[in-house]
Amino acid sequence: MVINRNPESIDDLDAIEKMYYKRLLNYIKTVLKIDVTQYKDNYIMRRLRVRMKATKCNTFKEYYEYLRTHPEEKEKLEETLTVNVTEFWRDITVYKEIQKIIDNFVKDKSRKKLRIWSAGCSSGEEPYGVAIIVKEAMNKHNRKLFDAKITGTDIDKEVLAKARRGVYHIKQLKNLPPTIIQKYFTKLNEEEYMIKPEIKKIVTFKIHDLIKDPPLKNMDMILCRNVIIYFDKKIQAEIFLKFYEALNPGGFLILGKTEILHGKAKELFKTYNARERIYQKPLES
Ligand SMILES: C[S@@+](CC[C@H](N)C(=O)[O-])C[C@H]1O[C@@H](n2cnc3c(N)ncnc32)[C@H](O)[C@@H]1O
Repeated sequence: MVINRNPESIDDLDAIEKMYYKRLLNYIKTVLKIDVTQYKDNYIMRRLRVRMKATKCNTFKEYYEYLRTHPEEKEKLEETLTVNVTEFWRDITVYKEIQKIIDNFVKDKSRKKLRIWSAGCSSGEEPYGVAIIVKEAMNKHNRKLFDAKITGTDIDKEVLAKARRGVYHIKQLKNLPPTIIQKYFTKLNEEEYMIKPEIKKIVTFKIHDLIKDPPLKNMDMILCRNVIIYFDKKIQAEIFLKFYEALNPGGFLILGKTEILHGKAKELFKTYNARERIYQKPLES
């Protein structure tokens, strides 16, 4: 039997492999409780292959059996599948704070521009979600010519390709009020929505490795949420210093709900909102 080691769709599989792939899908749905409907088969297959390689399994059948006999593999598979997980306005309480900070920036008439970096932006929900907030503030304060730019960066070129397309499953939009969806998205069909050009225009994406590459410069806000949890503490501390360097005085750093500032950067930043993991570079720095 010839085994296709790089299947991209269910049609590439023989009957047995198809059956085990479906069993794996069912495991992901019922045991890991991950909603697989928003993913294409080739994405899930690629992620499964990462774990299959690590566990030296050649087929879905072998991997399914490995998963059932090695309890520690459950968590590893979960991590691998959720590495790019994101959504618009993820953690709504943080976004309420982000709204207030952005509103203060935009209403200040002496300020002509705003630069925001979404580091580890995955498929673009975070930078587009922030761009919507900026646009709303610009409308509210009648600042049509305000120069706002949001840069989304990630190490993974595939998620960036999705970000540039700007087409999202309705489930990714569940935190957004219907009025915002109506204003800033075009409905393509029952499930898919495309971000409008007026938002796309202020967001750019580029490949960037937080560990190896130098930081962007002259930022007023950096969001780096649910990214550094995957790094060890020493690397996290180095990245926090890069963020300090990247920010203008008075600029904000926003981490994920379970992430916390530590190391030398902790002494340099002021804590702005401990619960929401928001830190500020002092104005006098
Ligand atoms: C869970 S997503 C977070 C998305 C978004 N920030 C959010 O909170 O919804 C983590 C992202 O970090 C990216 N990432 C992992 N290592 C990275 C690195 N060294 N440099 C830049 N991005 C990285 C992954 O590719 C993934 O898209």
